[in-house]
Amino acid sequence: MAFFLDRLFPFFLFCLLACPAAHAQLSPTFYAVSCPNLESIVRSAMSQAVAKENRMGASILRLFFHDCFVNPQGCDASVLLDDTATFTGEKNAIPNNGSLRGYEVIDAIKTSVEAACAATVSCADILALAARDGVVLLGGPSWTVQLGRRDATTASQSAANTDIPAPFHDLPKLISLFVSKGFSAQDMTALSGAHTIGQARCLNFRPHVYNDTNVDGSFAALRRQGCPSVGGDDNLAPLDLQSPEAFDNLYYQNLMLNKGLLHSDQELFNGGSQDSVVMTYSTNAAAFQSDFAAAMVKMGNMSPLTGTIGEIRLNCRTVNF
Ligand code: HEM
Ligand SMILES: *[C@@H]1O[C@H](CO)[C@@H](O)[C@H](O)[C@H]1NC(C)=O
Ligand SMILES: *[C@@H]1O[C@H](CO)[C@@H](O)[C@H](O)[C@H]1NC(C)=O
Repeated sequence: MAFFLDRLFPFFLFCLLACPAAHAQLSPTFYAVSCPNLESIVRSAMSQAVAKENRMGASILRLFFHDCFVNPQGCDASVLLDDTATFTGEKNAIPNNGSLRGYEVIDAIKTSVEAACAATVSCADILALAARDGVVLLGGPSWTVQLGRRDATTASQSAANTDIPAPFHDLPKLISLFVSKGFSAQDMTALSGAHTIGQARCLNFRPHVYNDTNVDGSFAALRRQGCPSVGGDDNLAPLDLQSPEAFDNLYYQNLMLNKGLLHSDQELFNGGSQDSVVMTYSTNAAAFQSDFAAAMVKMGNMSPLTGTIGEIRLNCRTVNF
């Protein structure tokens, strides 16, 4: 017996040091045994949510982006943590406060998932699946979601403020924010195609439709009607003038007509390095959809918490006690 343990001990020691690394890989079958119905639970909840409100597909996609883009931990559900008297999360960061939405949808999915597979599936993985399903439900491409992320026990409001791109950023700044996370400029332009769905607030597009010169005159006038120069900050307008409820490539066609809603959108087609990419995507929907899907997989793989790091949160809004 002692001999047996002696022989095994080095293995235990090895595993203690190296086994978490062995889990560091995400996998599409991570919950195949522990929660076989996970994907269908998420899909049916998302179809209900999108049937109730089409925009929810967009809102959940953005929630995922804002979760993943705030490093160092990538897609770790840090964005879902509520602020408390002693904890400052990311929900009230400048790009998120009064803007991110869909938290209740994620809560409802989490409740269904917990009922089927208690304390097994991370909020980060639920969000990754829900974002993919939202895109598919609005007519966009599908992709295989890698799974096995764990949830953060921390969040960073300051990183959310510095890492998430802003509507007033110019092209070099947008490119550098994405390059710093391991994305190419073309990845950035493909991911920006997410603005083929959803809405933005007047606050965020006002300077573009009042003061920029690279904006179509009648389009700017139309958007000014719903967005006074003072007040009405929360008034909404569609990011895609033509088909805000469909995940298509018309966003890029709008840009070529100087009908991007945000200053940052129009920066992608303003005489710079991304003009040719915008042109390609505007005529080749398949190229856009496949580049978008590939970039979404890349986003999902950004430095995940895996193995025994982090936790499987029981309630997406709070860390476990
Ligand atoms: C390239 C830099 C980006 C900038 C500067 C940017 C900025 C913004 C802004 C200002 C809004 C409107 C928020 C509001 O008015 O409340 C918005 C909405 C949205 N963004 Fe982005 N975004 C960027 C990239 C992305 C990416 C990469 C994705 C996802 C892959 C994304 C998905 C969305 C979606 C779906 C909406 C609409 C959300 C809704 O209707 O609830 N954005 N974005
Ligand atoms: C978030 O927005 C609300 C109102 O929309 C405001 O009262 C609150 O101060 C904001 N929080 C932060 C941290 O800016
Ligand atoms: C437009 O630019 C002027 C001059 O810089 C500035 O005073 C004004 O606030 C800007 N208006 C908007 C809506 O951004």
